[in-house]
Amino acid sequence: MNPDIYAGVDVGSKNVICVIAEADEEGILHITGAGQSPTSGSVIEGVIVDLQGAAEAASQAIEEAESLSSWKITDTAVSISGSHVRGFPGRGTVNVEREDEFVSGKVTWMDIEDATETAQLIKLPRESMILRTEKCGYTIDGSSRLIRPPIGLRAERLTADIYMVTADRTAVLNLEQVIRDSGKNVSGIYPAASASARSVLTPDEMEIGVVLADIGADTTDIAVFHSGVLAHLSVIPCGGESITRALQQIRIPGYEAERLKREYIDISSRSKTQDKEITVSTFGGRSTIPITDEAVNEIAYRSAGNILGDILCELKQAGIQESDLPAGIVLSGGTSYLRGLTSVASRIIGIPVEVGRPGGIDMSSSLIESAEFANAVGLVLLSHEEESELEERKVSNPLNKAVLQIKGLIRKLI
Ligand SMILES: Nc1ncnc2c1ncn2[C@@H]1O[C@H](COP(=O)(O)OP(=O)(O)O)[C@@H](O)[C@H]1O
Ligand SMILES: [Mg+2]
Repeated sequence: MNPDIYAGVDVGSKNVICVIAEADEEGILHITGAGQSPTSGSVIEGVIVDLQGAAEAASQAIEEAESLSSWKITDTAVSISGSHVRGFPGRGTVNVEREDEFVSGKVTWMDIEDATETAQLIKLPRESMILRTEKCGYTIDGSSRLIRPPIGLRAERLTADIYMVTADRTAVLNLEQVIRDSGKNVSGIYPAASASARSVLTPDEMEIGVVLADIGADTTDIAVFHSGVLAHLSVIPCGGESITRALQQIRIPGYEAERLKREYIDISSRSKTQDKEITVSTFGGRSTIPITDEAVNEIAYRSAGNILGDILCELKQAGIQESDLPAGIVLSGGTSYLRGLTSVASRIIGIPVEVGRPGGIDMSSSLIESAEFANAVGLVLLSHEEESELEERKVSNPLNKAVLQIKGLIRKLI
């Protein structure tokens, strides 16, 4: 694979989506291919329940993306969802080595690493593993929180604040297996909410306070950002399929419920009385029945209301206040297309709600403008960022060493 090619595979409950992008000399990513394939029951509530089915869906999505792109990929980033994916904060403090009895030492990268490692020292359940560690900030000797590592500053003690995301080990292993069975290596695993947030949210929103809610088929992936860093991450095991299932209560098959949901329903207009009649097939497709839009809007409203209520509950339980979220909630995922969702959500949750679309990448392919692609586009952006950081460190390390050696030599000579 060309080193400037990045791929992301989002194994969702309804669809596997693959995006391939190429970075130009300026580091701007251009989409070269995208593919989508239904998971057909092999992923439930974000968790893989049928390895072969999920691998077939992943292979198809990847092949479709590769056929549009002129590149075959060898590695890909992948996202993980499911209610086992959880985040929590951690804090670690270390003493900074003193220069002498009277002068405190300067903070080094080693201190930063040590404080971060100390913050990670938590007792995890045996079945869990740390998926990602986000660095949230640092404090030295009672300073206010610093976002940049305070390298070179003199301090007695250094505290690192982190946010860890953990996941069920077996779910991670199964996901890796699916990608390997599709003939690819896993270059990194990211929480689905972090991936969607990366492509949908702006740095300004993350700074001031915002929630990303990716409402997919069986899951709603939530990430809250404040002061530019991840403040909360969780997954609610509920999504758009619950609306489709609720609509089936009027004794219609799944495909008709899905059609109604996509084409007719507007959950914000349930109280209107100008009943429009719609004809839908019954189970088995042998006959049709007339239903009113008012009736189905009401069912969808209640069902969507449950998802929105769960989001509100999750935020409250995490201690997140309305005042922490001036930028409101930004929605992504397929269910964000549900007509009337944003206005109903603003009313129920009490803060502004908007639909976001993936960005931060050259959008020459109209396919990836859709909300379902937020996750895979975010994966590509995150893995490109991580690769660039690694490259930077590689480049800067030998240089740093050389500079230090020269400085030492000069000191000896003087
Ligand atoms: N136009 C639409 N209106 C309402 N719901 C939609 C629309 N398009 C897709 N959906 C719903 O979005 C969900 C799939 O979204 P997606 O983000 O692809 O899910 P996942 O990532 O969980 O596979 C399904 O429940 C689907 O019915
Ligand atoms: Mg999705």
